[in-house]
Amino acid sequence: MLTVATTPDQAKEIIREWKAQGLSVGLVPTMGYLHEGHRSLIERAVAENDRVMVSVFVNPIQFAPGEDLESYPRDFEADKKLIEAAGATLVFHPEPSDLYYPDACTFVNVEGITGELCGKTRPTHFRGVCTVVSKLMNISQADRAYFGQKDAQQLAVIRRMVRDLNMNVQVVGCPIVREADGLAKSSRNTYLSAEERAAALVLSRAVAEGQRLMEAGERNAEAVTGTMKQLIEAEPLARIDYVEMVSWDGIKPVEVAEGPVLVAMAVYIGKTRLIDNFIFGE
Ligand code: PAJ
Repeated sequence: MLTVATTPDQAKEIIREWKAQGLSVGLVPTMGYLHEGHRSLIERAVAENDRVMVSVFVNPIQFAPGEDLESYPRDFEADKKLIEAAGATLVFHPEPSDLYYPDACTFVNVEGITGELCGKTRPTHFRGVCTVVSKLMNISQADRAYFGQKDAQQLAVIRRMVRDLNMNVQVVGCPIVREADGLAKSSRNTYLSAEERAAALVLSRAVAEGQRLMEAGERNAEAVTGTMKQLIEAEPLARIDYVEMVSWDGIKPVEVAEGPVLVAMAVYIGKTRLIDNFIFGE
């Protein structure tokens, strides 16, 4: 049976009982409108922990003014069904006022690693993500927390935060789940018209092309991202925010891939901003 907690105290009470019984806890943070990508994280958490808490919370502080906070898709009834079917037992679904004190003055700011890629155009985004994820980790007392490689920079940032703050949680990265035609699953895909949905395939096609080049031995960042950009620019509905190669551990630009690298992109299809990536040499 699925239990829904709406306040931190309700969730903490349940977790306290679990911990008193010596049970391990997995955490899967989400913003809801769940799809197969989220489901893969929940199933992995269920397989690796005695109990799993899934959070469903559209976190206002990670959205900047003018971004899609108000229009972000929501369907909590469908989310509950998916979470229960995937085997989790607790959903944490607070209102912003349940989670944030009106006079809160503590935020988690991870520096450096947040300066490139999405951090360039969304300078306050990761502060919002790290603050809410810290709160969720504290509430859940999770032994393990699950994040998708779909948001690769987010995964790297959270790993760094957990390391730097000596947090008692193991961060588990999970592979990108895609539609049959290659498009990375995303709650934001619902914004796409039929024509845009077809155009959105340029992202996964560019990922495949970049991967192919690197597997064939190409290591020059410009050569890899240049080819990927050309492919994307050929699609009239696409507008590139960035296509970049960075080091996977530090998210710093590289000219030539030596260690593990992340090749990541953000591309507008019409008004919808989509992301995709691959990691090479891990
Ligand atoms: P959200 O976009 O709902 O994603 C929740 C988790 O699901 C993230 O770890 C994300 O990487 C993962 N995910 C999304 N699509 C995926 C896919 N196609 N394949 C694999 N994993 C996928 O990311 C957030 O929410 C928020 O920033 C959050 C961490 C919850 C903080 O508010």
